Amino acid sequence: MKKKIFQIKKLKYKRKLVCLTAYSMPTAKILDKHCDIILMGDSIATAFYGMKNTRSISLETMVNHSLAVKRGIKKSVFVFDMPVNTYKNYSHAKKNAKKILKTVGCDAVKIENNGKNFNIIKNLVRSGIPVMGHIGYTPQFKKKFKVQGLKKKEKINLIHQARMIEQAGAFSIVLECVEKRLSKKITESIKIPTIGIGSSNHCDGQILVTDDLLGLSGFYPRFVKKYANLEKVIESAIKKYKKDVNNKKFPSNKNTY
Ligand code: KIV
Repeated sequence: MKKKIFQIKKLKYKRKLVCLTAYSMPTAKILDKHCDIILMGDSIATAFYGMKNTRSISLETMVNHSLAVKRGIKKSVFVFDMPVNTYKNYSHAKKNAKKILKTVGCDAVKIENNGKNFNIIKNLVRSGIPVMGHIGYTPQFKKKFKVQGLKKKEKINLIHQARMIEQAGAFSIVLECVEKRLSKKITESIKIPTIGIGSSNHCDGQILVTDDLLGLSGFYPRFVKKYANLEKVIESAIKKYKKDVNNKKFPSNKNTY
């Protein structure tokens, strides 16, 4: 497990890291062939369950999906995104993170930064749990979406947060919706990889919510590039099925015993 994490850190100086989210076994199986990191993101709340925000998803639901995801992974680093209110203090975080690692068999956990949890990261890492940080737009703690790091004070604060997370021992940091030049500056000022989402190609790697990239979630902000339109593909298949059922073309002899 630790070797895989070490490899991720080394890739900072070699090539870009390819990262995506997965919520199911079939998706994870495809992603595993192409990704360095697969994240069981709490974005499952909005992208899969249609909830209003990521704050409503339970740890239990995420663990259940992770068990499925894990079955699809052979080589990628598997990171579990700790949902809000599962890391209120160090002992709370440790109890939950240990349970997650043991039950799911993932390689690391991700923790969103709220400006107060550097020590939690530090202590988790000390107790042998690899941690990925997350700064910038952090949906668990910020209600309203806003590009991060446009103001001088924000810039200073974000650089400070990235350094603190690095010092705490995290193996990488997600930068979410951080202004382009600031992403570059942060990436250049720390030795662990930055994984960008809406944070420019200056980051050491990129992550997207797979359902957004596939055109399945209905959520397409500027930072998402739709590489497919699965909504259309599925709808067209369902329409054909409906027509065949109505015309008694399905099931044909071929589909009948
Ligand atoms: O939950 C998630 O999918 C995430 C990524 C957007 C980084 O945190």
